[in-house]
Amino acid sequence: MKDGKLKVAAVGCGGIGYRHQQGYLQHPGAELVAVCDIDAAKAKARAEELGVPKWYPSIREMLACEECDLVDVVTADHLHFEPVMECLEAGKHVISEKPLALRIEEAEKMVAKAEEVGVHLAIDYNRRFAPGYVQARKWFDAGEIGQTYYLDMKLSQGGPASTWKGEYYLLYELETHAIDLLRWFGGEIVAVCAEMAKPRKHEARNGEEACYTSMAISFRYETEVVATLLASWDSDFIHPIERLEICGSRGEIVVDNVLTRATLMRRDNQVVEEYRPSIFRDEQLAFNGTFALRMTALVDDLLADCPPEPSGRDGLQALRITEAIVASWQEKREVKVRID
Ligand SMILES: NC(=O)c1ccc[n+]([C@@H]2O[C@H](COP(=O)([O-])OP(=O)(O)OC[C@H]3O[C@@H](n4cnc5c(N)ncnc54)[C@H](O)[C@@H]3O)[C@@H](O)[C@H]2O)c1
Repeated sequence: MKDGKLKVAAVGCGGIGYRHQQGYLQHPGAELVAVCDIDAAKAKARAEELGVPKWYPSIREMLACEECDLVDVVTADHLHFEPVMECLEAGKHVISEKPLALRIEEAEKMVAKAEEVGVHLAIDYNRRFAPGYVQARKWFDAGEIGQTYYLDMKLSQGGPASTWKGEYYLLYELETHAIDLLRWFGGEIVAVCAEMAKPRKHEARNGEEACYTSMAISFRYETEVVATLLASWDSDFIHPIERLEICGSRGEIVVDNVLTRATLMRRDNQVVEEYRPSIFRDEQLAFNGTFALRMTALVDDLLADCPPEPSGRDGLQALRITEAIVASWQEKREVKVRID
């Protein structure tokens, strides 16, 4: 790290890449040295728009020409493996967007490569950095709700009725966030059961497979804890999409809609404590602000030489749980989750 700054190179100049790149530009300890996209026009336009000194049409060229500590990979979700592997092999720390991969063998190779090379592989589960969840975590870690008894989550928004990425794509694309949050608060998940439906199969596009757009999933943890997840693409983006409730021996924490509100209800007190975002803080009011918060935490971790969390291993474990959910539905039984 020269000048004490973390040098970052960014791969992928789509809409989400833009959010990541803004995050690095806002951090005084980071320097965004280059952007890269196989669509050269997009890379050039992004570099000009954000005032980034260099742009490249290939990762190979960028790695050959630029000194950087971290590569930020924000390609489409079926295209994470090759860019991430290429950057890890070059000895760079890497953050990948979620899901880590669509195939578990790829995710395993990515995690193993980072460990072999001795660099960090992080993942963008940005909800962990959203103010509502951060507040919930503070109460949780302070023991405000005591011993955890159960978790109940809903993550439901608009989404496609069909896709070429398989009939379980909802789990990989969106619900990987919910699975991560259920692990983050509840601990290790050891077994799952699932029910699934395709209520909009009549809307499937020609040549595409109708996907399961609503799922009811139950989880069992290694401790005496259970959880449920209502996972769906059958609602919309207008109404609250997300709610997490954690019940414990001393009270309950509820997070509404990622950043709308977090509430602590103690059993020995009818007065509730509530977090609400400030109307003067953009990053607290909009989901898009959560990306910069995640990048800030990543830069801080790397500058302090701390292993960044959530990591590639968290991404891999979320995929193992995802595959167990699919197997449970296909085989109509509880399925155990592989844990290292
Ligand atoms: N964390 C979240 O809340 C959240 C929200 C939405 C999307 N995402 C994730 O963000 C990722 C990207 O989404 P997007 O909408 O920006 O995608 P996008 O397809 O619009 O942009 C990806 C860009 O990567 C480029 N690209 C592909 N392969 C490349 C390569 N090998 N080298 C260089 N550039 C390459 C493409 O040309 C494209 O411009 C996906 O994984 C998606 O699941 C995360």
